[in-house]
Amino acid sequence: MYKLIKKQGNAKRGEYRTPHGTIQTPVFMNVGTAAAIKGAVSSMDLKEIGCQVELSNTYHLHVRPGDEIIYQLGGLHRFMNWDRPILTDSGGFQVFSLTSLRGKIREEGVTFSSHIDGRKIFMGPEESMRIQSHLASTIAMAFDECPPSKADRRYIEDSVSRTARWLVRCKEEMDRLNRLEETLNPNQRLFGINQGGVLEDVRIEHAKRIAELDLDGYAIGGLAVGETHAEMYHILEETVPHLPVDKPTYLMGVGTPANILEAVDRGVDFFDCVLPARNGRHGHVYTRRGKINLWNAQYQLDTQPIEEGCRCPACRAYSRAYIRHLLKAKEMLGMRLCVLHNLYFYNTMMQEIRDALDEDRYPAYKRQALAGFEELGL
Ligand code: GUN
Ligand code: ZN
Repeated sequence: MYKLIKKQGNAKRGEYRTPHGTIQTPVFMNVGTAAAIKGAVSSMDLKEIGCQVELSNTYHLHVRPGDEIIYQLGGLHRFMNWDRPILTDSGGFQVFSLTSLRGKIREEGVTFSSHIDGRKIFMGPEESMRIQSHLASTIAMAFDECPPSKADRRYIEDSVSRTARWLVRCKEEMDRLNRLEETLNPNQRLFGINQGGVLEDVRIEHAKRIAELDLDGYAIGGLAVGETHAEMYHILEETVPHLPVDKPTYLMGVGTPANILEAVDRGVDFFDCVLPARNGRHGHVYTRRGKINLWNAQYQLDTQPIEEGCRCPACRAYSRAYIRHLLKAKEMLGMRLCVLHNLYFYNTMMQEIRDALDEDRYPAYKRQALAGFEELGL
């Protein structure tokens, strides 16, 4: 399923085969939390900007419209008209970050109130797997707890060992669901998630423990939640070597273009992040020289595209001056064009990373890209 094509240092160039098509890694997954990319970006747009994998959230789709409804409609792929791979996050992270109901965590799972209507919901490993099976995503994520960044060692150790026990239950339930006659995707994959905050010994022990389960892929969660970039890179250096090199490695929720370049160098294959879409909605757009804010007055008469030479739908047709006007006039098109550009930028950077790895020149590519971003800052 995963083929390691090449390694340069610790950086991996891989290929992950799925029933929905082959993913070339390193890859950036475009975040469509509620089966939609925020900023009025359609699944047709995703193809145009070179997106390989779309990411949606178990928690959001369970709350609205309901996973049972998506199941009845034939699954998430048909629902959102996207035939390439979809990865669904398990709900764990969203339950903890959106519903602030820490303390209601038990061995069985978590009880929380919906952020939409306040309704009480219980979710544990089995529930998360059943919902993701209904959604019929290509890759399901294990149900985990992302401990708060300021949690003490005792809390993190207890949380991580519970997450490890939850993973065993996730695997058993996913195996059972995949064998059911009525399942929409009998080959649904399951990725485990490593946790442990910035405690490297906890991270390593947990990584070894989950590596034994022979899962389809391994994620590193609980990073980019308040620690420094140096701490994040250090944890990657310590942890990734304990995850199987012949399986995909996924760094959840990361990050800036610079974070991605550094994490690739430490062996990460998969990324996802809300940053390009969120920044685009605010008129902040990426260029090879850093990020620019189109709201600034200096772009009022600027007839250039966001970035000279960019082949995205915004840059092929419109000027910075026009997009700035759209943003100021609160025209939806302004946001949409900025989001399309940013997603194109991220997906194109990943293509360049893969090309550099293919041609054994990743260190030089990384150095040059990082130096460029520094001019205006990220
Ligand atoms: N997204 C970003 N970080 C995390 C994490 O630690 N766990 C899960 N499930 N999703 C995430
Ligand atoms: Zn562009």
